[in-house]
Amino acid sequence: MLELDYTNVLESAVHANGIPKIAFEKAAESSKHIVDDIHRAHASGKLGFGDLPTDRNALKAVIDFARSHSFPNVLLLGIGGSALGPAALDAALNHPNSGRRLIVLDNIDPDFLRDSLESISAQDTVVNVIAKSGVTAETMATFAVVRRWMIDAIGETKTRERFVVTTDPVKGDLLAIAQHETYPAFVIPPNVGGRFSVLTPVGILPAALLGFDVEGLMNGARSAADRARKPFFENPALVAAFIQFVLERERGKRILALFAYSQSLWKFAFWFKQLWAESLGKKMDRRGREVYYGQTPTAALGVTDQHSQLQLFIEGPNDKSFLFWDVKEFRNSLPIDHPFTTFDSMGYLEHKTMADLFRAEKQATEIALTEAGRPNATITVDRINAEALGELIMFSQYFTAYAGEFYDIDAFDQPGVEYGKKLTFAMMGRPGFAEYSRKIDEIRHRGRAIIR
Ligand code: PA5
Repeated sequence: MLELDYTNVLESAVHANGIPKIAFEKAAESSKHIVDDIHRAHASGKLGFGDLPTDRNALKAVIDFARSHSFPNVLLLGIGGSALGPAALDAALNHPNSGRRLIVLDNIDPDFLRDSLESISAQDTVVNVIAKSGVTAETMATFAVVRRWMIDAIGETKTRERFVVTTDPVKGDLLAIAQHETYPAFVIPPNVGGRFSVLTPVGILPAALLGFDVEGLMNGARSAADRARKPFFENPALVAAFIQFVLERERGKRILALFAYSQSLWKFAFWFKQLWAESLGKKMDRRGREVYYGQTPTAALGVTDQHSQLQLFIEGPNDKSFLFWDVKEFRNSLPIDHPFTTFDSMGYLEHKTMADLFRAEKQATEIALTEAGRPNATITVDRINAEALGELIMFSQYFTAYAGEFYDIDAFDQPGVEYGKKLTFAMMGRPGFAEYSRKIDEIRHRGRAIIR
């Protein structure tokens, strides 16, 4: 079961950079309404992410679809919340020898697109186009390119059989195109935002197509959702949100360093980065005040980053809070062979495993950070499997939602991202965006400062 160890954020561990125990006692009282508010938002249908694991119909539909669409390559066209979740699941749950490969086209760099398409055969590929809005420029353009690539390779009729879309159930051009082309369409419930959508068909359809245990994923998510509705000291998501809120607001930890101590969780850290940044980075609070809130997430990988960012983390500005993502048991402990034991640098490794070394290094990092007065907490799952990923995802979503409640902001909108999308439409000449074109012209006329 997922565990939160917050020993090293306490004042007793990191002194003035930490949080006194009494603050937790007080928060247990003062935060009761937060759980109720998020629960009420679910009950009224305003929010949907916490209820997704109980949606048996969506689960059955993706499993049935995956059974009849078994291809070695799953080509995913999407961006942001429509790509990062499936990529995180793939990185954690796929095995290099599984015979199934996920290729995520979440960038429109033409060289990247061309190279990616050249690395696979259209014959062996099913294409999942994902866009909640059904209009995102990057995804729609990539869709057009990939469709042409496939038609050229296998013809129009077969191409039509290889596409499946995931989008809003009523609005957006992608849905209309799917209907026109007779592509199967899976839906993202309107009350589930893009970055909260990995447990909708956005994530579970690619997961099922890749042969992952989607039932286990949902079971793990369900158990985390149940815990997220419990009182403060039984509720890791709520306690974790309180910790980051206090560290950011009252101890100046404006950066949240996500330290994945598992190669399998590396992409998960990138998924979490979007969730945290886009949900909490807000100009206005709910009372209409300009607040400019947000804690900047950054990702680090254990043990790789011990030889890179860790120097900065330990001795640089004390403006970070650290969150380790740890795993109790690896699938392999991997004994270290002992051919050169007479050498000091190898002798001590005799009878040890790679898992021992990895664990020791994580603990050493944790101690070094704590000694340097850097608050750090650890989220641990028992092992990397579908159930644990479900737990981590649902925990993270509640963690973020509760943080939004502590800040008193709307964690579920993204006006900054939407503004950027509109400017792109205007620049590319999409009708209906004239006011944004005027803004762009005005800015272009300001001139530029360039050295050549
Ligand atoms: O969280 C969000 O809403 C965004 O990050 C979206 O996921 C992202 O902009 C992609 O949007 P869409 O799924 O509509 O293509």
